[in-house]
Amino acid sequence: MKQLIQKLTETFSPSGYESAIRDVIRAEVKDLADEIRVDALGNLIVKKGPGKNAGSEPVKRIMIAAHMDEIGVIATHVDENGFVRFTGIGGVYPRNLPGGRVRFVNGTRGVIGLEPTDKPGDSQPLEKCYIDVGASSSKNHPIKIGDVAGFDREFLDLGDKLVAKSMDDRIGCAVAIEVLKALKSTPHEVYFVFTTQEEVGTRGAETSAYGIDPDLGFSIDVTGWGDTPNQKGLEISLGKGPAIKIKDGGMLSDPRIVNWMIRSAEKAKLPYQREVLLGGTTDARAMQLVRSGVPVGCVSIPCRYVHTPSEMVDHRDVLNAVKLIVEMLSHEVEL
Ligand code: CO
Ligand code: ZN
Repeated sequence: MKQLIQKLTETFSPSGYESAIRDVIRAEVKDLADEIRVDALGNLIVKKGPGKNAGSEPVKRIMIAAHMDEIGVIATHVDENGFVRFTGIGGVYPRNLPGGRVRFVNGTRGVIGLEPTDKPGDSQPLEKCYIDVGASSSKNHPIKIGDVAGFDREFLDLGDKLVAKSMDDRIGCAVAIEVLKALKSTPHEVYFVFTTQEEVGTRGAETSAYGIDPDLGFSIDVTGWGDTPNQKGLEISLGKGPAIKIKDGGMLSDPRIVNWMIRSAEKAKLPYQREVLLGGTTDARAMQLVRSGVPVGCVSIPCRYVHTPSEMVDHRDVLNAVKLIVEMLSHEVEL
C-alpha cells in the first residue's frame, strides 16, 4: 500500500485541476468497479454492488467521499524582475511557506521567498511571499496570471510513519481504493466518490451527492493531532487507530452513523479514537445538507502537520481504516 500512497501523493492536482490525479485513480480502480463515470465537476464516481447474494433488506445506497484535490497556489502577478505573486487555493498559511518549493501544473518549478519584515513570526500575510522560478524579467516568463501550482515534496517512508504533501486527502483516496480491492461483496449499492474542489469548500461533494441521492454516507479524510510538543485541543494520537468523527467545525455526525462505525470497529476488534475537532470540516458536511438531508459521518485518518508540505500519518491507522470500512460495508446496516 505504501507504493500506492507514494504514487497518489506525488501527483500534482490542486483544486480545480484534478485531471492528473483522476487518471491515476481511475487506472487503479477500473477493474474493481461495476460502473465508473465522471460528472460535470470532475468527480470520479465508482459504483460497486450490490452482489448477487444481496440480503432481504431493501438495498441501501451508500456514498463514500474522499477528495482528490490538494491545496496549492495560483499566480496573481509577475513583476518586472520575474517574481511571481500568488494567492492560496484552499487553506495556505504563510508561516508554512518560506523555503518551500512549488510545481506548476505546466511543469515549472520554483521556491517561495518572503520579503524582509519588522514583524517576524505568524503575522506575515500571503502578500509578503513570492515565488522565484529563476527568471530575471517578466519577458518570456513561464508563468501567467492564473497558473496553478502544488507544493513540491517527495514521499518519505519513516517505517510506521509516512510523510508527504497532500496526505490530505490522497490518504483517504488510498483507503477508498484499498477498500474497493478488499471488499468481496456488499449487500449495498456503494458509490465511492473521488471528489473535486474540497479544499475550496466541499464543492465536488455537493454536486455528486445531489446526483447520487444517497440514503447514508460518510467521508474519509484526515483530521488533526494532539501528540506533539505543546499541541493542544485535540485528543487524537497517531497510531492509536482511525478516528470516528463525532463533531467538527462544520458538522455533527449522525449518532446512528457514529454507532454503526463503533459497532463495526468493536466487532472486528480494531482500535479507534473518538474525534471532536474544533475547526475545519470535510465533504460529509456537503453530503449531509444535500436535497432534504442525508445521515452522514466521517472516518478520519490522524495526520500531523496538516496543510504543510510534510503531512504525516501512521501506516497502521491507514490499514485499520481500510479494515473498518470493509467491515462496515460487508453487512446489512440498520440505522
Ligand atoms: Co485539507
Ligand atoms: Zn481534506
